Amino acid sequence: MNPIPIACVYGSPLTDLADVPAGSAQVSPLVPGSTALEHLPDASLDRFVIAAPPGTVERRYALAQALRALKPGAPLIAMAPKDKGGARLKKELQTFGCEVFEEGRRHQRLCETTRPETLSGLEAAMAAGGLHKVEALDLWSQPGLFSWDRPDPGTLLLIETLKSAGHLLSGKGVDLGCGPGLLARYVLSHKGVTRLDLVDLDRRAVEAARRNFEGEPRAAIHWADAREALPLEGLDFVVMNPPFHDSGAEDQALGQAFIRRAYQLLRKGGTTWLVANRHLAYEGVLTPLFASVALKAEAGGFKVYEARR
Ligand SMILES: C[S@@+](CC[C@H](N)C(=O)[O-])C[C@H]1O[C@@H](n2cnc3c(N)ncnc32)[C@H](O)[C@@H]1O
Repeated sequence: MNPIPIACVYGSPLTDLADVPAGSAQVSPLVPGSTALEHLPDASLDRFVIAAPPGTVERRYALAQALRALKPGAPLIAMAPKDKGGARLKKELQTFGCEVFEEGRRHQRLCETTRPETLSGLEAAMAAGGLHKVEALDLWSQPGLFSWDRPDPGTLLLIETLKSAGHLLSGKGVDLGCGPGLLARYVLSHKGVTRLDLVDLDRRAVEAARRNFEGEPRAAIHWADAREALPLEGLDFVVMNPPFHDSGAEDQALGQAFIRRAYQLLRKGGTTWLVANRHLAYEGVLTPLFASVALKAEAGGFKVYEARR
């Protein structure tokens, strides 16, 4: 078991704006292997520095968890770009009962506070931002995840394309960037699928997927970066709706890395099923790698490809 940290850092705050002590535990869910915020004991930390995430509910959740885990009187330094939640930080901390000193530096809003003796509204913020069952998906999910509370139209198009082609998935496969498991649930509805590995960079997705596939012996869930080597090989199929944003900015290299990873994981003759936004130029990576590439559907701004190794 990891020792209980005394200082935590969430994400990658600008270190020239706030001192992050050496040995601070990373608690961002986007860093595989990091400490889970929710597991930090109450009133245990001496310092918390957070690059606050952009979504309002996820940000309030992270701030509430940070305040819960800090000792009374211990400092909390929060920062975010003004147009990505920074403009609201001060108010949000004040609603939890904090006195806040705020300044604007290097396009960031920087808020410094200390954990007050008495806090208010933490429970509500933690409940709103925590893992919960989402009716529209009939899945456990969490704010901050991609399309966390409604089915993504790209994923739906991929599922519809597989269904209408009468394509039966079978054997061993992987879902790269699985999220809570909307696509994986469809894959696992095929009796011929003997094993499905689900991979996601985000611990919240991994925990949601663990709940969603509890008791499903064919599902194996990994908290990992699909750009790095994975302990899988010789797969019959890969399914994916790859991400194309990294740290809030469009990054086509991410989807391209997913495609290369898919190729590497497949056996010869194995198939990748991929959905992507129409404007993303993935053909340039698919065509030279795979033996055959077919555009199977195009609708609503998305394209679905089948690529055979
Ligand atoms: C567009 S979503 C697809 C989610 C789900 N498969 C679906 O179809 O609804 C992409 C997923 O990739 C995950 N992701 C982003 N970068 C990743 C990386 N480097 N390695 C693994 N997963 C990543 C995100 O957390 C997100 O859950």
